[in-house]
Amino acid sequence: MTDESAPPGVDPTVPNAARVYDYLLGGKDNFKADRELGDLVMQVLPETRDHIRMYRSMVGRFVQYLVGQGIRQFLDLGSGLPSHQNVHEVAHRLAPDARVVYVDNDPVVCAHGRALLEEPERVAMVQADARDPAAVLADPQVRGLLDFDRPVALLMLFFLHMIPDADDPHAFTAAYRDALAPGSYLVISHVAGDTLPERTDRIVELYRHAGTSMNPRSEAEVRRFFGDFELTPPGLVNGVVTVWPFGDETDTPFWDPDLAKMIYSGIGFKK
Ligand SMILES: C[S@@+](CC[C@H](N)C(=O)[O-])C[C@H]1O[C@@H](n2cnc3c(N)ncnc32)[C@H](O)[C@@H]1O
Repeated sequence: MTDESAPPGVDPTVPNAARVYDYLLGGKDNFKADRELGDLVMQVLPETRDHIRMYRSMVGRFVQYLVGQGIRQFLDLGSGLPSHQNVHEVAHRLAPDARVVYVDNDPVVCAHGRALLEEPERVAMVQADARDPAAVLADPQVRGLLDFDRPVALLMLFFLHMIPDADDPHAFTAAYRDALAPGSYLVISHVAGDTLPERTDRIVELYRHAGTSMNPRSEAEVRRFFGDFELTPPGLVNGVVTVWPFGDETDTPFWDPDLAKMIYSGIGFKK
């Protein structure tokens, strides 16, 4: 997109994580500043594109697993731009009756998301600040599609590290956990702060320089997001697909164990 095509209220000169991500995935919904930051990230981590593709395939496996556990409701916070292996695509392939609500605070993400989603009875894209659980959980579209008396899978994928400690992400995540019925799941993937600090520090610096918050966290800090939810085996994983027990690794030709170490992933279950 050109800067002139930015919708009202969107400053195209400030990079946005969702649009940088879209650029790295080969999408077109990004501005010059997003592409510039994406190029800088790729200078530090030349394998970034492959890694993100590999990561997206893990998202598909999460959804596959959850549908297999009987989950039919998904709330995806910080969902980003609709991209390859969207949650609703994977869910509907396996369970046509599944309902998915995407939440993002970026107007470009939401405008594009709404344009791509044509099934209001099964999928919604809500523009809201996910740091405000009361507002998200009271949103008419969220309430209209999801029944919180039944299990819901809450997805916080590559999202919580966008939130600085000052916004108390542990407190608002706890509020979401409390709102979920027994049998619900919480799925988190988060940039690790304690495995390859020299690499993550450089990425954090790039984002910070570009005006975007990036907050890698330690294993203990990521674990705390699950509260008293029981982590399904193998627990909180430092890495992505190769160590995950379900799914087929053969469709992940781009594998860099160092890059995988930059992520923590886990699935928590509410008893
Ligand atoms: C890196 S993207 C992750 C996309 C997707 N979840 C995935 O795993 O591929 C992070 C997303 O979080 C969104 N985001 C950041 N802060 C947010 C907030 N306070 N409320 C809602 N969304 C937010 C950004 O707009 C962006 O789309």
